[in-house]
Amino acid sequence: MHSVASLAALVAALPSALAAYQGFNYGSTFTDGSAKAQTDFENDFKTAASLAGTNGAFTSARLYTMIQGGTTSDVISAIPAAISTKTSLLLGLWASGGDASFANELTALKAAISTYGDSLGPLVAGISVGSEDLYRETPTGIENDAGVGTSPDTLTNYISQVRAAISGTALSGASVGHVDTWTAWVNGSNAAVIEAIDWLGVDAYPYFQNTENNGIDQGAALLNSAISETTSAAQGKPVWVTETGWPVSGDTENLAVASTANAKTYWDEAGCPLFGSTNVWWYTLQDSAPTTPNPSFGVIGSTLTTTPLYDLSCDDTSSNTTSSSSSTAATTATSSSSTAKQQTSSTKAATTSAAVSAASSSAARGAGGAGGAHTTLTTSTSAPANTVATSTYVAPTTTAGSGSGGAGYNGTTTATTRGGSSTTGSGGATTSSSTVVVTNGGAVVKGSIGAGFAAVMAAILAL
Ligand SMILES: *[C@@H]1O[C@H](CO)[C@@H](O)[C@H](O)[C@H]1NC(C)=O
Ligand SMILES: *[C@@H]1O[C@H](CO)[C@@H](O)[C@H](O)[C@H]1NC(C)=O
Ligand SMILES: *[C@@H]1O[C@H](CO)[C@@H](O)[C@H](O)[C@H]1NC(C)=O
Repeated sequence: MHSVASLAALVAALPSALAAYQGFNYGSTFTDGSAKAQTDFENDFKTAASLAGTNGAFTSARLYTMIQGGTTSDVISAIPAAISTKTSLLLGLWASGGDASFANELTALKAAISTYGDSLGPLVAGISVGSEDLYRETPTGIENDAGVGTSPDTLTNYISQVRAAISGTALSGASVGHVDTWTAWVNGSNAAVIEAIDWLGVDAYPYFQNTENNGIDQGAALLNSAISETTSAAQGKPVWVTETGWPVSGDTENLAVASTANAKTYWDEAGCPLFGSTNVWWYTLQDSAPTTPNPSFGVIGSTLTTTPLYDLSCDDTSSNTTSSSSSTAATTATSSSSTAKQQTSSTKAATTSAAVSAASSSAARGAGGAGGAHTTLTTSTSAPANTVATSTYVAPTTTAGSGSGGAGYNGTTTATTRGGSSTTGSGGATTSSSTVVVTNGGAVVKGSIGAGFAAVMAAILAL
C-alpha cells in the first residue's frame, strides 16, 4: 500500500541490513500514571536504538493510541519524538471506547497529519485500528471480563474512517491493519475485518498459556503456532508480530517460569529467528518505571539504560534459526484447546492495551496504567494451583470502577483470595473502590480482569 516514494523513504529510514521493522511497544504513561512527555519518548527511543548487542536494529515503536496522556484528543508526543529520533511508528487508534472515543482518536490522527505530515509520512510502518477488540467480544473474553471490545462491523466501519482520514494526505500510503489474538483471526465471523485491512497483527504470550505445556522449552513453538494459525486465516496478507515476550520476573504460570534466563531463551529461540525477516514489536523495552509490575517483561529494568538485563545479541542462536518453525506443526495440533490456550495470553495484552488507552484519555490520568502494570489474573475453568494474581487499580477522583491492569486511575487495591472453590471477581462500574479477586486452587474461577477498563471507558464516555 505504500507509494513508491514513501516506501523508498521508509526503507531509507531503516537500518540498511534490515528488511523488517523491529521495535518495542510503548504505552502513553509511566507505571505511576503520569503521562510521557516528548522528552520521555525521545529517551525511550534513543535507548532502544542503542541497546547493547542489537546493532541499532530496534528503531520502531508501536503505539496504542493517537492521544497524548492527560488530554482529550491532543496528538501523542511520541510522534514528534519519533521524528526527532528517526524512529518508525506503528500507529494505533484505540477502537473499543465507543464512537465518541474513536472520534477523538481520529481527531488526533488528523491533527498529527496536518502538524507533522511530511516528516511523519515516511516513518509510518502502518496504522492499527484497534487492539484485541474482537477477542474481548468472544465468550472467552467476556467470561474473563477482559473489557469492552468491538464487533467486526464496527471495526470495519472504523477502518473505513481511517482510510478516509488518510486519503490524499501524507499518510495516504500507510498500510492499515488490526491487532488481535490468533483465535480472533481464525474465527470466520471476523473475515470481513481481514478483507478490510492490509496486514494482520498478532499478540501472543506463551507464558500466559497456563492451560498448555508452556514451559520455556515450548515458548518458541507456541509463538510459532500462533503465527501459523493467523497466517492460515490471513487471506494472503502479511502477518506481523505486534506483541510477544517472556517476563524476567513474576509469578509462575503453570510450567512457565519468569526469569532473566528464560527471557533470554525466549528472545533467542522465538525472537531471533523472526528479527530482520518479520515485523516484530517486542514486549517490551521497559515496563517498570518507576514501579515494577508482576510479571515484568522489560528487557531493561526501572532505569533507562542501554545495557539490557540479558544478552540480546542473537549470537547464541545462529544454528537454531530453523528449528523453531519446524516445531509449529506439533503445537498446531493442540487447537482443540485453543480457547483456553488463548484466554490468558490475550488477557494480559488486552489489559495492557486497555491501560494504555485509558491512561491516554482525559478521564484517566492517575497512576497505574502505563500499559505496564501487566496484571496477571489467571482465569480458567480449572484454576491452576498456587496461582496468585494481583492487580493494581487506581481510582480517579470522580470515576470509579474496579479491575485490573491499572487502567490509569488513582488508588491502589490488591485483594488476594486463596483456596476458594468458586470465586468470582467482579468489576464495579459504579463503585469507588477497586476489587480484584485472585484465587488459587479453586474450580471455576472468574476474575475481574478488564472490568476496570469497562468502567474507565464508561467514565470517559460520561464526560
Ligand atoms: C467469533 O467472532 C464473533 C464476532 O467477532 C464473536 O461474536 C464470537 O463470539 C466469536 N466466536 C468465538 C467462539 O470466539
Ligand atoms: C540451540 O537450542 C538448544 C535448545 O533450545 C540449546 O540447548 C542450544 O544451546 C542452542 N544452540 C546454540 C548454538 O545456541
Ligand atoms: C494519585 O495518587 C498519588 C499518590 O498515590 C497522588 O500523588 C496524586 O495526587 C493522585 N492523583 C489524583 C488525580 O488524585
